[in-house]
Amino acid sequence: SGYLPKLRNALEKFGVPELLLNFVSTKGKGGETLKIIPQARGALSALRGQPFFIPLYNLFLTYGGIFRLNFGPKSFLIVSDPAIAKHILKDNSKAYSKGILAEILEFVMGTGLIPADGEVWRVRRRAVVPALHQKYVAAMIGLFVSATDRLCKKLDAAASDGEDVEMESLFSRLTLDVIGKAVFNYDFDSLENDTGIVDAVYTVLREAEDRSVSPIPVWNIPVWKDISPRQRKVSEALNLINNILDDLIAICKRMVEEEELQFHEEYMNEQDPSILHFLLASGDDVSSKQLRDDLMTMLIAGHETSAAVLTWTFFLLSKEPGVMAKLQSEVDSVLGDRFPTIEDMKKLKYTTRVINESLRLYPQPPVLIRRSLQDDMLGEYPITRGEDIFISVWNLHHCPNHWIDAEKFNPERWPLDGPNPNESNQNFSYLPFGGGPRKCLGDMFATFETVVAVAMLVQRFDFQMAIGAPPVEMTTGATIHTTEGLLMTVTRRTKPPIIPTLETKLATSVKVEADDSLK
Ligand code: HEM
Repeated sequence: SGYLPKLRNALEKFGVPELLLNFVSTKGKGGETLKIIPQARGALSALRGQPFFIPLYNLFLTYGGIFRLNFGPKSFLIVSDPAIAKHILKDNSKAYSKGILAEILEFVMGTGLIPADGEVWRVRRRAVVPALHQKYVAAMIGLFVSATDRLCKKLDAAASDGEDVEMESLFSRLTLDVIGKAVFNYDFDSLENDTGIVDAVYTVLREAEDRSVSPIPVWNIPVWKDISPRQRKVSEALNLINNILDDLIAICKRMVEEEELQFHEEYMNEQDPSILHFLLASGDDVSSKQLRDDLMTMLIAGHETSAAVLTWTFFLLSKEPGVMAKLQSEVDSVLGDRFPTIEDMKKLKYTTRVINESLRLYPQPPVLIRRSLQDDMLGEYPITRGEDIFISVWNLHHCPNHWIDAEKFNPERWPLDGPNPNESNQNFSYLPFGGGPRKCLGDMFATFETVVAVAMLVQRFDFQMAIGAPPVEMTTGATIHTTEGLLMTVTRRTKPPIIPTLETKLATSVKVEADDSLK
């Protein structure tokens, strides 16, 4: 049955009109009628000049939850249907690989956890997941707090000087500082310093992002690799980072050897709670190349994603003062003037909804990439082995039929006393961290990291778009960036004096204890 869609596709490329194509036999082996995936046409020129997921959204409205898109000789399936997404990511996940993604990221992540497939992935996932146990995540709260506190000091200085701040780059530095410590106990200290290594990380990241949106793989052309100044800069940056990672692995190995080690499920070294330390202590028997690939993968996976979430959250908050007021009131009543702790994570419910909703409107990354390893059925459509598939999380999260007021930033859409929304309880209409066996392993880490950062920032400051700030528009690499930054005016909060209203006067006359909500 698999040749039919291919045949139809080939005929279509030769310009056979649609009407005739429908006469190409579409009978399956049992004589049943097989459906052919709708083919999107036109609109391809629209792909240029705007982030690619926007025209894909418009095509989704026209062609529905699955359609085919041709790019010269290449063809892609675009999936925006929750049931099909669930089938690919979860129910039949074994039949799909990372495809193009693995090819693009190979130069930086090698066979790290994100691009890896098959046996390499299975073994490494099993080794790495236990490192992010509860005690580790709890220990990370202190790290989130101290890094965010350093950011607050910077903002405090800017507020004093009356200087506007570009928040996107500060968030990027905040999350780089966090992930370096969390994964391999390295202090980038990028909020304070502009060292070569920070620059190298950005060079490599930009390259990975550019490669993921570039139609022609110029970096593969042998001569180009050697003479292009840009490619030379990329390989120098990679060398620098790899050398540092090798040193960190060696240092950590020595620490582990000197330790009186008793390895158990929730093992953690208090001085160095990093994932690297856990892996080496667990006796992780990997060539340092595989270990390095995994460290590099987590560095990248956990850096720009969290930074993008913070950037878009503050942008959204600046447009919805009502949400900001509610957020600040929750933070004031839960935290008062103190730092957040692990116990606060379940109390900061509205703060969590703000992050959930920000991730709905700005999913990071906006599409998931897969390739079919065998023939399969997607809904009622047969597909063949070797199809490149984009699951548009953007479309799932913006679908006007599924969400009430889909474009509105409305954290209230999920009740505070209900469960935190995730792909399971939202039936794959909402998948901020993917789903199935390849789901993000840093989901809890990232949620707590962004909740802590948002809570601490709005606890101390008010944020407004700066007067004369450039318009906030989207551009993509792996995550959604702004085109020209997020320029904000940051002011220290002056908490209003509490003037009791009639209601509270009545209440206090009956009940004299301090009321949390009045703090
Ligand atoms: C995978 C999102 C933070 C490590 C994924 C996937 C998504 C995602 C959607 C699935 C990709 C796919 O199916 O193709 C996010 C978001 C984050 C975040 C939105 C921040 C808000 C982190 C952090 C870490 C991390 C902090 C590391 C500590 C990983 C790894 C994978 C992954 C290793 C690959 C898992 C596998 O294939 O087995 N992430 N992530 N992520 N993420 Fe995250």
